[in-house]
Amino acid sequence: MKKILVLPGDGIGVEVADQTIRVIDHLNTSNNLNVEYEKDLIGGASYDANGEPLTQHVLEKAKQADAILLGAVGGSKWDNVERTKRPEAGLLGLRKELELFANLRPAIVFDALSSSSSLKEEIVKGLDIVIVRELTGGVYFGQPRGIEEYESGKQKAIDTQIYFDYEIDRIARVAFNLARKRNNKVTSVEKANVMETGVLWRKVVKNTHRDFGDVELENMLADNCAMQLVRNPKQFDVLVTDNLFGDLLSDCAAMLTGSLGMLPSASLGAEVEGKTNGMYEPVHGSAPDIAGQNKANPIATILSFSMMLRYSLDQQDLAKIVEDVIQEVLNEGFRTADIYNNDSQTLVSCSKMGDLIIERL
Ligand code: IPM
Ligand code: MN
Repeated sequence: MKKILVLPGDGIGVEVADQTIRVIDHLNTSNNLNVEYEKDLIGGASYDANGEPLTQHVLEKAKQADAILLGAVGGSKWDNVERTKRPEAGLLGLRKELELFANLRPAIVFDALSSSSSLKEEIVKGLDIVIVRELTGGVYFGQPRGIEEYESGKQKAIDTQIYFDYEIDRIARVAFNLARKRNNKVTSVEKANVMETGVLWRKVVKNTHRDFGDVELENMLADNCAMQLVRNPKQFDVLVTDNLFGDLLSDCAAMLTGSLGMLPSASLGAEVEGKTNGMYEPVHGSAPDIAGQNKANPIATILSFSMMLRYSLDQQDLAKIVEDVIQEVLNEGFRTADIYNNDSQTLVSCSKMGDLIIERL
């Protein structure tokens, strides 16, 4: 019996997590999945209930779970909360405490959606790339940071971009190993022309590459990479980059697939207290503007669960079934609002999308 912790979080996180739980229930009864889950609070929901976006209690549960499924955190309701108690701090704390340093964000264009992208169909049709984002270092966590007075009444803000060689080496290894199972090409992205961290990044990746001579390595500056992603995304196979560039480039890659509502992610880690945890979450945020309206697209979260089946629960066959079913539902023309673009399609709600997927499983 595997144990998973479900943290729906805020906004549409709750709705998309609910649909994913229905999928888990279904697979438990009809496919002998044998997974036990528990729900708890994270982000703004946890702050409202406990005054903290991530409680010690939830952190302990997360450490003991075999995997974590997370919805989304954040919302304007918490705009004025101090930074360390903001919903996002809960998510970042979980990533850091569990040492989930490798964030895999695959951007795959389903055939049925190749005309939903804002880019021309021929540019995105058949796209299948993965962004490997470093998740526990860089400017997200670097010290010193803060806003200080430098003269009476005048302020300055400091963030620190910092990378240790071992952090770059271990994320590069994840990317090279992944490329070996795919098309054998890694593009390493930094700004070595401007940043010291970029210079070290390039040097360490080159060094690590010596152990992966069979994989092609290309270095690319981050601004050029942003441009290439919208110009000709199919030139890429695996992209590896730091925490901040990975955040930006993965939103961009997500949109190539038609909608942010389609992109899943897996955050995998080092061993912490004798266990390797994995956390699975959609790339999209809590979308407060549509929260509570049953309009959200649950596919990114259900696909995140299928990544969990693959990487944490050793259920490759079931993962494939879930992915095939999603493809089927899209082929049949069912669309949530974010991917609906013409009247030959059937517009469905979040829970209806859940129904359709479960019916076909
Ligand atoms: C993401 C999100 C988070 C990030 C936020 C919610 C802290 O945008 O997972 O991409 O910046 O990493
Ligand atoms: Mn982001």
